[in-house]
Amino acid sequence: MSKLKLLDLYCCGGGAGWGYHFAGFEVTGVDIEAQPKYRAGKFIQGDAIEYLTANYNDFDVIHASPPCQRFSKSAQQWRKDGKDYPDLVEATRKALIDTGKPYIIENVEGAPLINPILLCGGMFEGLKMYRHRLFESNLEISAPPHPVHTHKQAKMGRKPKQGEYIQMVGHFSGVAMAQETTGLTWLGQYELAQCIPPQYTQHLGKQIIEYLSPQKYNQVA
Ligand SMILES: C[S@@+](CC[C@H](N)C(=O)[O-])C[C@H]1O[C@@H](n2cnc3c(N)ncnc32)[C@H](O)[C@@H]1O
Repeated sequence: MSKLKLLDLYCCGGGAGWGYHFAGFEVTGVDIEAQPKYRAGKFIQGDAIEYLTANYNDFDVIHASPPCQRFSKSAQQWRKDGKDYPDLVEATRKALIDTGKPYIIENVEGAPLINPILLCGGMFEGLKMYRHRLFESNLEISAPPHPVHTHKQAKMGRKPKQGEYIQMVGHFSGVAMAQETTGLTWLGQYELAQCIPPQYTQHLGKQIIEYLSPQKYNQVA
């Protein structure tokens, strides 16, 4: 039986895409920049909304991770220094709704997502980071219980000490640990700093497959 097809918009190196691939989707990634390290499936370089508008009928589900610099804490200083970042969340949501397809929009805390759920690394066995991310969907999606954060997080720019969790932001130290704990061993510092841990999207992807096609879900789970 053929796999459900997922379009991974704003895919970067494919952290999110890799989790959907593992959940059982056939994944296609789109990014405005070349992404030679993308392994989740076919990669297309281009504008996300333009590609979506022209090709949505080829897909069963659409994921979108528009850039977060307009909302993220880590880009606060650049915004104060006068750098302007467009709000691609609203435009992306409008384009997604227009398709009538099931969708997920991901972004950072502070982004204007509607009734999002929150995923945290602490929810996933073996993932040594907290990295909160929000997910909005027109399907019903749920998060595992949110555990108390008991691990110290490594300060920015310093390698995590024994027992500390990593913060994959900017020019962070500890790339090898980030590769190992996410499983994204082929990505470098840049892609890892942008990525959603695949554990998050594998969790969501399984729910979506179960929702859309229980029989297919039983085969890939
Ligand atoms: C936060 S990253 C996405 C991370 C990705 N979801 C992951 O898990 O690895 C956002 C990406 O959006 C891309 N981007 C920015 N504007 C775009 C546009 N108009 N169309 C397509 N991609 C765009 C950037 O090049 C960047 O790779």
